[in-house]
Amino acid sequence: MNIYTKNIRENECVCDALILPSVEGLSGKRKDLLASVSALLGKISPSEFQGKKNELLLVPSPADIRPKRILFVGLGKKEDINPEGVRQAGGKALALLRNSGISAVALSTATLSDLNMSPAYFVEGALLGLYTYDRYKKEKETKAVRALTILTQPTKALGDHLKTVTALASGVSFARDLVNAPSNDMTPSDMARVALSLKGKNIAVRVLEKKACERLGMGSYLSVSKGSAEPPKFIVLEYKGARKAPVVLIGKSVTFDSGGINIKPSDGLEKMKYDMAGGAAVLGIMKSAASLNLPVSLVGILPATENLPGGNATRPGDIVRSIDGTTIEIINTDAEGRLTLADALGYAKKYKPSAIIDIATLTGACSIALGNETVAMMGTDRGLIETLRQSADFTNEKVWEMPLYEEYREYLKSDVADIKNIGGKTGSLVTSACFLKEFAGDTPWVHLDIAGTAWTEKDKPYTPKGASGIGVRLIVDGILRSLRRTS
Ligand code: BES
Ligand code: ZN
Ligand code: ZN
Repeated sequence: MNIYTKNIRENECVCDALILPSVEGLSGKRKDLLASVSALLGKISPSEFQGKKNELLLVPSPADIRPKRILFVGLGKKEDINPEGVRQAGGKALALLRNSGISAVALSTATLSDLNMSPAYFVEGALLGLYTYDRYKKEKETKAVRALTILTQPTKALGDHLKTVTALASGVSFARDLVNAPSNDMTPSDMARVALSLKGKNIAVRVLEKKACERLGMGSYLSVSKGSAEPPKFIVLEYKGARKAPVVLIGKSVTFDSGGINIKPSDGLEKMKYDMAGGAAVLGIMKSAASLNLPVSLVGILPATENLPGGNATRPGDIVRSIDGTTIEIINTDAEGRLTLADALGYAKKYKPSAIIDIATLTGACSIALGNETVAMMGTDRGLIETLRQSADFTNEKVWEMPLYEEYREYLKSDVADIKNIGGKTGSLVTSACFLKEFAGDTPWVHLDIAGTAWTEKDKPYTPKGASGIGVRLIVDGILRSLRRTS
């Protein structure tokens, strides 16, 4: 969809539909509307449209104006309207217009500007909500909104904001595509190929093969891949937008998690293709950051592997040695994500990072605790945690901090090794992070468990069913927020 900004009057805009965002209860008394549209609104009964949040009404327009139709979209009560509400309105409105086969649309900005809301939020929701995944369908979706014209004076501030939301939406769509792809077309080698496609003037990409990982002593990560015929790929991306210590982003990239020898039950097993959503988010973030030319230094690490059973697979009880020399007793081969992240955290240290954020579909316990709405956050750096909390409020990629008290370390005591990879049934969301903390050491670090939020079973206002692409908007906003603070 192309986005244009044009300073013309609503009645003069030649388009298939004019979108009129409307505040609840104020619909009948709007002075900003053209007389004929106002009269039209006067004829609409409250049972048809009241302006409630995400309420939609598409009607033919009065004969004296150029837009062919009008789409009223409810924003809800004036005092409750915020950027997230505007994003949701954008997502709902554009999905309806697309599904109605409408191609060229315009957005009235009078109400938004009264509310001090940038129309770019509406565009953000629109771009995110229009996402579809039909790569494997014979019949492709042919309906598409081709142009969205924002009816307002073009300004530098609006232009910049539109660039930001466009870069974010394409980072999110990129991540969603990778996560929606089936595991047979998203192997570790495929992930490496995708990462290499991001190589460019400010992104460098390296892929460490199994041999190199062996030489570095990544026994923990490599143990996960042993049951699979697909070779592991340890993928490293560097984005240099500034000469400072980098922030390292680590994304869990298990391209299929069968559980290994501790094999999972078959119900819902096909969903374990999304166990690489953390890695996909990291790629989406790198792509967005580079296209926005952010003045930061980022390193992305994706320890990609499959987790399958097989004659050579790791057995429960096996002891492996991680990159930093720590021995790990593998009690359960299904707790494989943390084994891959342990070596990625160890490897990250060589960059002397200012901070490490890992993002991972790490535990089923995360969705038991928080359902499908909220990311679990744990870490060692109050500043970083606070920044991400603010980003969560702003982006609506919700996070909730769980406690990481040192008492939990006992749960991971092994009789034969330095640590074991699970801490038992109770507290398993926290003990998974506690395991990671051991490898993060003194580096400021935050862990985000996205097991409950990386996939959605139902359509949300701007997140269609399937891969959500969670983490991209949250973390890019975190980066933008820390930049604003230091400049
Ligand atoms: N990939 C899973 C976690 C997961 C579960 C992600 C459901 C998305 C949806 C992870 O590797 C796993 O299997 N974790 C185990 C850990 C357990 C063995 C301690 C779990 O949560 O059951
Ligand atoms: Zn697992
Ligand atoms: Zn897993």
